[in-house]
Amino acid sequence: MFTIDDMKNELVGFDKLVPTLSGEEKRYIFLDNSASTPTLKPVMNTVNTFMEWYASIHRGTGFKSQLSTHLYEQSREIVRQFFNVQDEEHTIIFGKNATESINKLARRIPLKEGNIILTSRMEHHSNDLPWRMRAPVVHVDVDKNGRLDMDDLKGKLKDYSSKIGLVSITGASNVTGYINPIDEIAELVHSYGSEFMVDAAQLAPHRTIDMKSQDDPSHIDYLAFSAHKIYAPFGLGVLIANRSAFEEGDPDYVGGGTVDIVSIDHVFWTDVPEKEEAGTPNVVGAIALAKALRVIQEIGMDNVAAHEANLTKYALHKMKKIPGMTLFGSTDEDDVDNRLGVISFNIGNMPHALVASILNYESAIGVRNGCFCAHPYIKSLLEVTQEEDAALEERILHHDRSVIPGAVRMSFGIYNDQSEIDIFIEALDKIARNDIKGDYILDKRTGEYKPKGFEMQFDKYFKL
Ligand SMILES: Cc1ncc(COP(=O)(O)O)c(C=O)c1O
Repeated sequence: MFTIDDMKNELVGFDKLVPTLSGEEKRYIFLDNSASTPTLKPVMNTVNTFMEWYASIHRGTGFKSQLSTHLYEQSREIVRQFFNVQDEEHTIIFGKNATESINKLARRIPLKEGNIILTSRMEHHSNDLPWRMRAPVVHVDVDKNGRLDMDDLKGKLKDYSSKIGLVSITGASNVTGYINPIDEIAELVHSYGSEFMVDAAQLAPHRTIDMKSQDDPSHIDYLAFSAHKIYAPFGLGVLIANRSAFEEGDPDYVGGGTVDIVSIDHVFWTDVPEKEEAGTPNVVGAIALAKALRVIQEIGMDNVAAHEANLTKYALHKMKKIPGMTLFGSTDEDDVDNRLGVISFNIGNMPHALVASILNYESAIGVRNGCFCAHPYIKSLLEVTQEEDAALEERILHHDRSVIPGAVRMSFGIYNDQSEIDIFIEALDKIARNDIKGDYILDKRTGEYKPKGFEMQFDKYFKL
């Protein structure tokens, strides 16, 4: 049985040393798990062992093809169990990532003339732009701390009730870590006769998600997530969907695997999910995801949540003491159950890109900075005015990214611990006290800062 305490030792690459500005190599501390997690040894071992058995799936008749097909379908079953997908009405479609899954749904969901899609201002672009390509999108507001405004949601559900084609909201924010009350939202949405989609890219690795039976008013109709954020970075994305949305109409990608029979002038599509998985599917990615889900099930999602809540509480407590620290979202150390271990911040007036760069070059800490693919949300958190926004657009269109509004983001995974937060806090404290070793130069085109006279020797660390 795996436990949280095992995870450091079970993480592939946990001990890796990386170069720093002083010439000293330091152990890499990875605090960008919201973007993508490293993989786990049990997942890696499963993939390595499976490669000896790998063969193309579905129509191959040999033993390896049959075994690979069996494992691919078993992976679907493991996903089904993990999210408590109970209904035959749901189908599980494997693809590339959450973005592709949402795009697929946006292209394929049956809408009526005049339908709108209701989403929110706190969305990652991947749960906003695909809908804009399909229908008019209405955004539910957020409050000044960035929390979803439930009154505005209720108002918009009422105002647009008969026009709503789908309500698509994130399970948790990739900027502030806020967890949305998805049960409550689902009930509200269903009470207006609409369907509910959860972008679970952030929530799925950190909290139990129960799709529930469709008889339950708080059930989820559609769910999308990416395996690379849940310790299986082998290129798989998942869409759990009402089967009926995909039964009618043409698949969005067509070709091998999508058909029952083809003649020179007509085609009969096969059943979902195969109808929606054109071409040779990512068997390795599916098996890796299934193994990662098994490991998390063994640890217990409640233990994952408790561990990350403790880390978040610890980090918030320490970060608040850093001079000049601005934290976005909730800073309440006692409210860590309603948020993920995702903390966005700025230090004084220092550019976020500079802070992130110093963390890397001087302390070997990997974080992320910028707008985190959530421009409308970041602009509202930073209270960017319309004039500032217009000036910003102008600059960016002229390839000048020197003053992009944004923040630095750190985010935890199951293997992070307090000693890493201590190192991170020490590094932030130095930055806040201007104890900075390098002379950092801004590249206006990219908005990145690099220390003068220092070049990364990538070949020394990895060569193809
Ligand atoms: C909330 C949210 N939705 C969707 C995505 C898109 O995920 P992917 O890049 O794996 O498609 C992300 C990625 O960070 C995310 O945080």
